[in-house]
Amino acid sequence: MNEKRLGIVTSGSLTKGVEVRLDSSASVEDMAVGRYVTIEGQKQRFFGMITDVSLGVIDQKLTLTPPDVSDPFMAEVLAGTSTYGTIHVSPYLTIGGDVASLIEGPQPVKTVPSHFSTVNLASQQDVELVFGGEDEKRFYIGTPLDMETKVCLDLGELVKRSNGIFGKSGTGKTFLTRLLLIGMLQKGTAANLVFDMHSEYGWEGRSEEGRKVKALKQLFPSKVAVFTLDEESSRRRRVSTDFVVRIGYDEIEPEDIGLLRQTLNLTEASVQAVYQLYREFGSKRWIEATLELEDRDETKQLLSRLNIHDSTYRNLRRGLETIRRLPFLLPHVTDNPVRHVLEYLDQGINVVLEFGRYTDITAYILVANLLTRRIHAQYRERMEKALGEDIAPPHPLVITIEEAHKFLNPEVSSQTIFGIIAREMRKYNVTLLVIDQRPSGIDDEVMSQMGTKITCLLDNERDIDSVLAGVPDKSGLKSILSRLESRQQALIFGHAVPMPVVIRTREYGSAQSYKEFIPSPETRQQAEKDIEELWE
Ligand SMILES: Nc1ncnc2c1ncn2[C@@H]1O[C@H](COP(=O)(O)OP(=O)(O)OP(=O)(O)O)[C@@H](O)[C@H]1O
Ligand SMILES: [Mg+2]
Repeated sequence: MNEKRLGIVTSGSLTKGVEVRLDSSASVEDMAVGRYVTIEGQKQRFFGMITDVSLGVIDQKLTLTPPDVSDPFMAEVLAGTSTYGTIHVSPYLTIGGDVASLIEGPQPVKTVPSHFSTVNLASQQDVELVFGGEDEKRFYIGTPLDMETKVCLDLGELVKRSNGIFGKSGTGKTFLTRLLLIGMLQKGTAANLVFDMHSEYGWEGRSEEGRKVKALKQLFPSKVAVFTLDEESSRRRRVSTDFVVRIGYDEIEPEDIGLLRQTLNLTEASVQAVYQLYREFGSKRWIEATLELEDRDETKQLLSRLNIHDSTYRNLRRGLETIRRLPFLLPHVTDNPVRHVLEYLDQGINVVLEFGRYTDITAYILVANLLTRRIHAQYRERMEKALGEDIAPPHPLVITIEEAHKFLNPEVSSQTIFGIIAREMRKYNVTLLVIDQRPSGIDDEVMSQMGTKITCLLDNERDIDSVLAGVPDKSGLKSILSRLESRQQALIFGHAVPMPVVIRTREYGSAQSYKEFIPSPETRQQAEKDIEELWE
């Protein structure tokens, strides 16, 4: 064991953490926030994280008349006698010491170590005990800073609630999401439906340097189906697609238009009018009928009967025209995409829906909302049936959305299906994985319902506050979060980890990394064969 003694506990509390006075042999300059320490209490061992580093002096006068430390002998005498370093440690877990806790494994702390307990830098074994142990539910997601130990996420716990991946642009959200999706696929903890705005999860993506990286279907051909809204774009990129999604006007409901209020620049009155027109013309024809209104004589009469102002009608019409121009929308569609998505999910096959060239937010919001609403309704029905008839509930479903604040901002989140899913937790075995670079745009209540948050660097104060709202020792984590490197590092906290952890994200994109995802030689061989066949 490479136990390295740092110092002793001098004061503290359970809520605020403990102060540790460093030994003269331990330099403050070697300390770093985010590092792990163990504290040898009288009865228990504690496991915690350094959340602050500071300097102290015994006699305040020294700070007013600083001594001459150019003499190395002088400096050494001072260190540890008149001056000292302190670190602030948040203890999170107890990890053995007495027999009971050895059997139970790491437990949340309920007390603090006693005065003058020894503090050591955590050893590899300690970190391994707390975060390690890949198994049938735990997935290796990265390593702690300055250590080789694996940090694992409990994906069984993860899928029980909605979760979020945050970070400013270019910090590694997409790479992390791919890893998580692979984890869920590998461990079989959930089936996934991914609304893939930039077409980077299904077949292949790119790194910022322009290097191609494999995505899900290339790695797991038999477990992933790629649906596309843009057949031509998929063909050009040589993506092997399974289904081309088209959506009928008749599938659009007033709620969908409500969610698009901001992007389509609709007035509140227009949104109200949608509900009236929907009632007037019926679900099948309301969009076409509304768009045709202007061409007919009775228009004026109808609008005035419904009390819809002329300017409101024109505002709404402009919005509906924008929707009608989306190439994947048709007046009527026979091949229902919802049914196909469910068919794949039911077989345990993950579905990635590529948007191809239709990356504008109107298309994304419309399609994600419309499909999710229907799929959720199905799960709900099945879950209720399962409860009533005592049969197996549906396999958990995780729905991934990007630009989550567009669906979950305070103005819309109470009405949309995504807000409902985020709030109801796993009542119907459906949860969300939201990806966002601006978490402060997401409704606080939704943020507080998220089980696990994985966040890369954020530099906007409001975003940091929103991600950390409600966590104990917020200030400690805040300093850690704002000091992450600008890519491939993340802070993880919540249900899927025993305590907050800073990781260097597992490497993704090299041949070696792909190999490690595919468990046994036979399946790997099969996967390689499948990949070859696809390219023929
Ligand atoms: N786990 C990883 N393994 C290898 N490279 C990584 C990893 N994470 C991030 N990177 C590097 O960082 C770059 C940015 O990552 P990524 O595309 O995931 O950022 P992002 O947060 O999704 O950005 P945006 O908000 O613009 O979509 C990648 O192109 C890659 O070069
Ligand atoms: Mg991205």
